[in-house]
Amino acid sequence: MSKAESLHGQWRSRWTYFLAATGSAVGLGNIWKFPYIAGEYGGGAFVLVYLLCIVVVGWPVLIAEAAIGRRGRKSPLNSMLDLARAAGASPHWRWLGWAHAVTGLLILSFYTVIAGWSLFYIVESAAGIFATGERAVVERVFRDFTGDFSAVLGYSTLFLSITMLCIGRGVEKGIEASLRYVMPGMLALLLVLVGYAMSSGDFEAGLRFLFAPDFSALTVNAVLVALGHAFFTLGLGAGAMMIYGAYTPARMSLPRSAVDIAVADTFIALLAGLALFPILFASDLEPQQGPGLIFLTLPIAFGNMPFGTLFGTVFFVMLALAAYSSAISMIESMVTIWIEKWRVSRAFAATVLGVIVWLLSLGTVMSFSIAHEPLLWDKNFFQLLDYITSNLLLPLVSLGTAIFAGWVVRRPVLEETLRARSRAVFTLWYGAVRWLAPIAIGLVFLSAIGFFSS
Ligand code: TRP
Repeated sequence: MSKAESLHGQWRSRWTYFLAATGSAVGLGNIWKFPYIAGEYGGGAFVLVYLLCIVVVGWPVLIAEAAIGRRGRKSPLNSMLDLARAAGASPHWRWLGWAHAVTGLLILSFYTVIAGWSLFYIVESAAGIFATGERAVVERVFRDFTGDFSAVLGYSTLFLSITMLCIGRGVEKGIEASLRYVMPGMLALLLVLVGYAMSSGDFEAGLRFLFAPDFSALTVNAVLVALGHAFFTLGLGAGAMMIYGAYTPARMSLPRSAVDIAVADTFIALLAGLALFPILFASDLEPQQGPGLIFLTLPIAFGNMPFGTLFGTVFFVMLALAAYSSAISMIESMVTIWIEKWRVSRAFAATVLGVIVWLLSLGTVMSFSIAHEPLLWDKNFFQLLDYITSNLLLPLVSLGTAIFAGWVVRRPVLEETLRARSRAVFTLWYGAVRWLAPIAIGLVFLSAIGFFSS
């Protein structure tokens, strides 16, 4: 039998696990990345491929991560080590546990910077700075702020401190206690914004941009982006779901809850698109690449609409809440590794790791000011880190995790741990994690290599 409880804590109910896991899944990726890449890479055609990636790869890997965590009830490092030993496999599998935690830490180092921007934008929009809706004003605010090393660092430090404070307080008193309010609040604000977009924006144009399929835009690169985003948006391949799985009540069905989480995440990404694009198109603004979409174009749009100051502020509060619930999930697994390995207190681990993430985040902060020049592959530090983690590390670590769950851990152990409601569901998952997910990830990788070399 797997142990009933982790030494690090336990979710009080299935519901709080759902909140935490969905909180991890729903983040900047849903609001800043998804709507944009969907529009860019072929609208409905891309959404279809993305959904396929979620079903074929996301669902099985999410369950695999949660199952490893639940079986081990420890940090990803020691859970993987215990499971490998129990299966008579190499203890080197623990390096995959490390890889999970390191990937999470790297992602947090740039995530916290963008989340910091949203804090700044709450202040600015509430102060009515965008009320004019003049492009020149908004652009100046954006350029002056992002190019201001100490301002960006200040806000990013503030965000990181809030995140590490929550982590330092632990699973029940920190993560659970805050997400109880943060998640419903975030969803309520998003729904308000969708209502606003429907009544004041160009809803039809938004729908068209997001859903009208353009199969010619669906390149190999687009498929790779869809796959990378499926991992990113579900928070896979970086220890988050593994450590959250370690806190799940023993009897809850993992396949079932994975469906709930994936559906909630996708639903919110689509809602975000339905809030964003009608607002942009109402002012005839072009959606564009990356952070510029929400920090540059969106404020102009809000400025041109009725009650723009109010709804603009609502938007950035919503964004900050979504980022917060994701950020905490990126570092929790590294914190548990430190607690287990060096027997330090949670507060100590959270503090030291906070400093490490902060130091790394300097690279991203500089990427918008003194070091915005490309370093490699035409990308600066921030773009490189984003690209390497999302498109390389997340798929590779997830591939390893699928292979570990599907081929190393013994089948009866999995059956006992998953708590699938029926044999058929288990068999379906088992086939997916052994064959479908690894082959899909491998194929996309191979074609990507072909793509890069051509
Ligand atoms: N899923 C979050 C988003 O869409 C980001 C995130 C949270 C994440 N936890 C993660 C990404 C772990 C990778 C790994 O913004």
